[in-house]
Amino acid sequence: MCRKEYRVGIIGGGLMGKEFASAAARWCHILEDVPVPVVAGISDPSTEARAWFEQFPSVEYSVEDYHELLDKEDIDVIYCAIPHNMHAQVYTDIIRAKKHFMGEKPFGMDYAANREIMKAVGENPDVFVRCSSQHPFYPACQELIRWIRGGKLGKIIEVKSGFCHSSDLDLTKPVNWKRIVQVNGEYGCMGDLGIHTMHVPFHLGYKPKNVYAQLSNVVKERPDGKGGIAPCLTWDNATLICDSRDQNGNTFPIYFETKRMAPASTNRWYVEVYGVDCSVKFSTDDANGFWYTQNYGKEQAWCRVNIGYKPEFQTITGSIFEFGFTDTVQQMWVSFFKELEGEKVEFGCFRPEETRLAHLLQTAALASDREKRVICLADFEAEL
Ligand SMILES: NC(=O)c1ccc[n+]([C@@H]2O[C@H](COP(=O)([O-])OP(=O)(O)OC[C@H]3O[C@@H](n4cnc5c(N)ncnc54)[C@H](O)[C@@H]3O)[C@@H](O)[C@H]2O)c1
Repeated sequence: MCRKEYRVGIIGGGLMGKEFASAAARWCHILEDVPVPVVAGISDPSTEARAWFEQFPSVEYSVEDYHELLDKEDIDVIYCAIPHNMHAQVYTDIIRAKKHFMGEKPFGMDYAANREIMKAVGENPDVFVRCSSQHPFYPACQELIRWIRGGKLGKIIEVKSGFCHSSDLDLTKPVNWKRIVQVNGEYGCMGDLGIHTMHVPFHLGYKPKNVYAQLSNVVKERPDGKGGIAPCLTWDNATLICDSRDQNGNTFPIYFETKRMAPASTNRWYVEVYGVDCSVKFSTDDANGFWYTQNYGKEQAWCRVNIGYKPEFQTITGSIFEFGFTDTVQQMWVSFFKELEGEKVEFGCFRPEETRLAHLLQTAALASDREKRVICLADFEAEL
């Protein structure tokens, strides 16, 4: 198979920049007729960060200043994974440079930053833009989505969607940029984890109408990594309760939970949808398990199917094997390139207009916690 190639530049060579480069390096894994991403450039002010990327023979450009990558005519796509306070400037520069673009969440540090990015998106309709969120690409989660779309659940009772970490329970963990308000943003844990929890509900059409939020900052100081102590003022945990409506106009609650202080949750991303006829759930704690209820007389029993390695996009791996985090990253990128080519995909990446709703919800959540009241999103948006 002779596949088309897209030359990709990476801006930000940290944790996520490396994950993409690794996914691209094993593209032979993918059996679908989808373009091949060739990592042609890396931009990061850190020479140490760039050194890791320089091991790839395809990397022709290794630069400190990202503008140099944007000036290259032979770079078609940019993936940008940098701290949140830089999203507005760098993302708008990328879009205006007419590079197709995958940006990391939260897609702007706050509502104003997201608005700037959305303005650039609106002015450049020929540029294909998506926001990174890989967890829904677990095959067991895709099965959950199929069951919901297939109408198996009946009337929806409620939806719970969360992302919980526990590493911050280690009080000796030094503060980093993700725990500094000026760099990570006022959203705190919501900015880091929120879009991950919204992807499945939003794509299913479950949009929040209002929000009541409970935010907590459990640990207010941390080691600064240099022998001292630094303030840690970002929100650690957030619980958002929203009203939503299904396609028949029935109202049901959605709970969005994003927590950095969640005991025993290493990296637990989950979605649970409860219906009158049937309920379904998925959690990364049991990444191959798809759970659904079956009626047992007047009772219900949870049943588990071991889904195995059956992703949306075909790969070389046998279906009996286990699927993991790095596979979700690669599947998300296949989805990106398919959509970029104009093909229809079953689920798809998080869309720019969905980031706008995510920011509205998170900004309203800050106000809700401050004022201890339910906030109607439509009224709140009209005042922004
Ligand atoms: N999708 C996910 O699961 C996931 C997971 C973690 C982080 N993220 C997101 O990815 C983004 C980056 O997070 P990370 O964990 O990779 O951070 P990181 O700290 O590991 O890496 C950030 C990199 O950006 C570089 N950088 C800083 N300024 C730059 C500039 N002007 N030009 C180019 N590079 C610059 C830094 O030197 C660093 O190497 C954030 O938006 C974060 O929310 C997503």
